[in-house]
Amino acid sequence: MAEGGARDEALRRAVAEGLGRRPPRLDPKLLYDERGSRLFEAICAQPEYYIPELEMGLLEEFAAPLAELVGPGSTLVELGSGASRKVRLLLEALRPSAYLGIDISCRFLEASVARLAADYPWLRCEAACRDYSAPFAVEPPGEGRRVAFFPGSSIGNFEPGAARALLQRLRALAGADGGLLIGVDLPKDAATLHRAYNDAAGYTAAFNRNLLRRLRDELGAGVDPDGFAHLAYYNPAAGRVEMHLLSRREQAIELDGRRFRLSAGESIHTESSYKYTLGAFRRLAREAGWRPRRVWTDAREWFSVHYLEADTSRA
Ligand code: TRP
Repeated sequence: MAEGGARDEALRRAVAEGLGRRPPRLDPKLLYDERGSRLFEAICAQPEYYIPELEMGLLEEFAAPLAELVGPGSTLVELGSGASRKVRLLLEALRPSAYLGIDISCRFLEASVARLAADYPWLRCEAACRDYSAPFAVEPPGEGRRVAFFPGSSIGNFEPGAARALLQRLRALAGADGGLLIGVDLPKDAATLHRAYNDAAGYTAAFNRNLLRRLRDELGAGVDPDGFAHLAYYNPAAGRVEMHLLSRREQAIELDGRRFRLSAGESIHTESSYKYTLGAFRRLAREAGWRPRRVWTDAREWFSVHYLEADTSRA
């Protein structure tokens, strides 16, 4: 398939470019193929990974005051919608007229949005398979106020400059009376973070190593996934959890006739998860043309859900 070939080419280039860097890194979006999306769903069900439970609790608890701020008949545009589970907590209270789910994992997305449409016959549902880490074009359905919904602290998986640029694109997408509902993980003690990103059942490790299986199976790369260990730790100076694939021995990854050497103990950085205080996130959002309106946190202040409105005085 020609389209698949073009995708493969872009993937090959991105992988070779990342492996050629020092320190080596791979683009986190490569984690989310169909198997990766399923593994991520399993991570979300692990007791150590506190984000889904806290966020769903907040969305449920504050759906009513949120609905007052947003008003009925809106169009919800969800980024990285995955299984489209979280949005279900909002639908009865919010009564939007339309929903658009955006995700890079196409088949996974389409199946999820089809289930949503079947369960909510009054809601106009659409799916757009896009890579939202780059500028993307979508035509959201419906005429109401557009509200971007970006749960799961996925904003933390972007470097701060890229996060600001993405928030700016969401501001343009939402328009002058638009809103943004976004889940943002808060800084907390290193031990809790360590447990969350190193679940005992090993799903996060499998998710991380899945990237190497993809290189092997999709790109025909010469790589032994078992030659790498999952490594995730909090880097307090950088304010982020870092996930790496740690080379257990001296080895090379072969791709298209090139050899990328790794020494024992060297690691490939695969994803970061930045943690933002309430103030730091508000600052970032303001710089991107958003005006903070409300924020909800759990009792321990582990997780936050912000609602922001387009700042029409500045952008
Ligand atoms: N948005 C999720 C987070 O930052 C993504 C994620 C899940 C993740 N598990 C991870 C990111 C492990 C890095 C490492 O929590």
